[in-house]
Amino acid sequence: MNQTFYIKTYGCQMNQYDSEKINQLLKNIGFEETNDIENSDLAILNTCHIRERASEKMYSDLGRLSKFKENKEINGRKMQIIVTGCVAQAEADEILKRSKSVDFVLGPQNFHVLPDILKKERKRFNNFLPDEKFKSLAQLKTDSKNVSKMVTIQEGCDKFCSFCVVPYTRGAEYSRSIEQINAEVINLSKSGAREVTLLGQNVSSYSSKIFSEKKNKKVGISFLLRVLSKIKDIKRLRYVTSHPNDIGDDLIYEHKLNTKLMPFLHLPIQSGSNKILKEMNRKHTREFYIELIKKIRFHVPEIAFSSDFIVGYPGENNRDFEMTLDLIDTVRFASSYSFKYSPRPGTKSSLIKNNISEETSSARLKKLQEVLNLHQKEFNEKFIGKTVEILINSRGRKDCQFTGRTPHLQPVHVFSKRNIIGELMMVKIESLTSYSFHGKILN
Ligand code: 5AD
Ligand code: SF4
Repeated sequence: MNQTFYIKTYGCQMNQYDSEKINQLLKNIGFEETNDIENSDLAILNTCHIRERASEKMYSDLGRLSKFKENKEINGRKMQIIVTGCVAQAEADEILKRSKSVDFVLGPQNFHVLPDILKKERKRFNNFLPDEKFKSLAQLKTDSKNVSKMVTIQEGCDKFCSFCVVPYTRGAEYSRSIEQINAEVINLSKSGAREVTLLGQNVSSYSSKIFSEKKNKKVGISFLLRVLSKIKDIKRLRYVTSHPNDIGDDLIYEHKLNTKLMPFLHLPIQSGSNKILKEMNRKHTREFYIELIKKIRFHVPEIAFSSDFIVGYPGENNRDFEMTLDLIDTVRFASSYSFKYSPRPGTKSSLIKNNISEETSSARLKKLQEVLNLHQKEFNEKFIGKTVEILINSRGRKDCQFTGRTPHLQPVHVFSKRNIIGELMMVKIESLTSYSFHGKILN
């Protein structure tokens, strides 16, 4: 019987991408995936460090896993436990010290060594080796048949927003080469992918060298998107996440000209107050952000925006919070993520005493989310009665039901007797239930 592995993934899309790669690495050496953690031979926690309690959650999961491991050992069987992801990067020694049952701690730039280390001694691997990692992963074939796939094009961040752990856990900005990404996307298209989302903490600052006119030339994400749009079977391209300071005119024009590039931009601002933006070290103002949105809308009228917000950052007073609500009212986002500030160890802001009470933060978050949800509903309602192109990516819960996404990422449920997974369908939107549409196929 094959050895089995179980992976629990916390956090962002980047971690989901990494978990997929780990999955494939292990399958290549004969492991089989299982949902039965208790009896798995290898249990992996792919952790996230961006929010408070991330490591608490991990330690509580490790507690459970240790019991399973002990039980297995009593019965003369083995279980190996591995912690990877951003908590592994930030707290490697602490994890090995606190949880004796952990066999390996692998930072996000090190999990490619997994097949080589399983027989080795208990240890931590958390050096920043993105080049080595991506080269080693480039050989990996996928057996997943998903229509929508993610591809990491860039990792790490040099921005150092004062609240954020990413520059410490994922390291300095690193961009993969155009050739490597192109090869990966071609492979994905051969195994059924029709939509690709380019991932990175700061994809808008993607930069790669190409050899052109007898010299090396630097190109950015717009060039990469142009190259990938030439792959026939890839019908849709997306990218996430961007920083407002890195959105160049070339990217705006790419949105205007590249029909495969979807009209949706996730552009975190975090706060609408210039005072708080400055404290957060965001290096842009609310006016800059609003002007940028205006400029993009002028060139790409159908584009929709989403954002990230943090409430209760140290020093945020009622007026600052009102400025955030005012910005939201000015921009009107199609959807957004919002969080209560929580200090992350090692970041600059964690050294500042937070004067905002839990009640105030909670009340602000509630208010903010009410407004964001209302705008999302208003945005969605505009589509009722319209015909929209949907990429069908999975079966729905009901018989003959399929689910797909609009260009603006809204989920749509439709019925079809024929299997339409992977196809683009023209759909008339008939109704809206909370966040998803129901529609009728026209073609
Ligand atoms: N507290 C609250 N939210 C945070 N984020 C990042 N760090 C923190 C923190 N310390 C949020 C930001 C970021 C998103 C991925 O997570 O809004 O854009
Ligand atoms: Fe973190 Fe994004 Fe700021 Fe980088 S730009 S430090 S990833 S919030």
